[in-house]
Amino acid sequence: MNKNSEKISGWKRFMKSMTKAHDLGTEEDIMLDHDYDGIKELDNVLPPWWLAGFYITIAISIFYIIMAVGFNKYNQDDELNDEMTAAKEEIEAYKAANPQLFDDANIVAYTDAENLAKGKELFTTKTCVVCHIADLGGSIGPNLTDNRWILGGDVKSIFNTLTNGGRPGKGMIAWESTITREERILLASYIISMQGTKPAAPKEAQGDIIWPAE
Ligand code: HEC
Repeated sequence: MNKNSEKISGWKRFMKSMTKAHDLGTEEDIMLDHDYDGIKELDNVLPPWWLAGFYITIAISIFYIIMAVGFNKYNQDDELNDEMTAAKEEIEAYKAANPQLFDDANIVAYTDAENLAKGKELFTTKTCVVCHIADLGGSIGPNLTDNRWILGGDVKSIFNTLTNGGRPGKGMIAWESTITREERILLASYIISMQGTKPAAPKEAQGDIIWPAE
């Protein structure tokens, strides 16, 4: 017998021990005596590989019950509470890191190039350009580059104008429902960054508020 055939017979023996399959040709030995219209049944044993899996699930279930009931592990209420606590901490951390998003008193203008670029983009996409012109020189709406303001030129006042609109009937609507809070801050920041630039055809100064002060 060469090595190869030894291996095969070893494998076969292993498979036999795992399945306890009845030898072919000797089915008569385990044939049950009932007969349903010619259909017969063999009394095969449950394969050991399958039984082993079955016993393992029973063992795990006992372990699980002891841990869950006896030691109060895997308690779903506790797991929920842990996750809720962790989520609350995450929310607090997010609020602490983004204070301007949660309280008007904390609004600060962005000054970094990336956020100012976003504000500029919004100024076009949110149709501000129609009334204020792309270089902010003004047409229906006032010039936003000079230091004369109808409603105030600091970041909180501009944010407030965007949120609640201008004076009634003047054409500057409240954008609160159509532009998100973050976007309104980005827009206000962009407008502030354009302070003192020279538009091609600036509209005459409007408003009594001077900001920044001369
Ligand atoms: C339909 C035209 C129109 C559109 C669109 C418009 N505005 Fe205005 N905007 C005005 C008018 C008119 C005023 C003056 C309001 C007043 O007199 O009370 C104004 C005022 C303002 C002010 C206050 C200026 C000041 O002197 O206090 C800011 C800031 C402003 N707009 C920004 C924006 C931004 C940002 C957008 C885009 C989201 C926008 N506007 C869209 C017409 C418009």
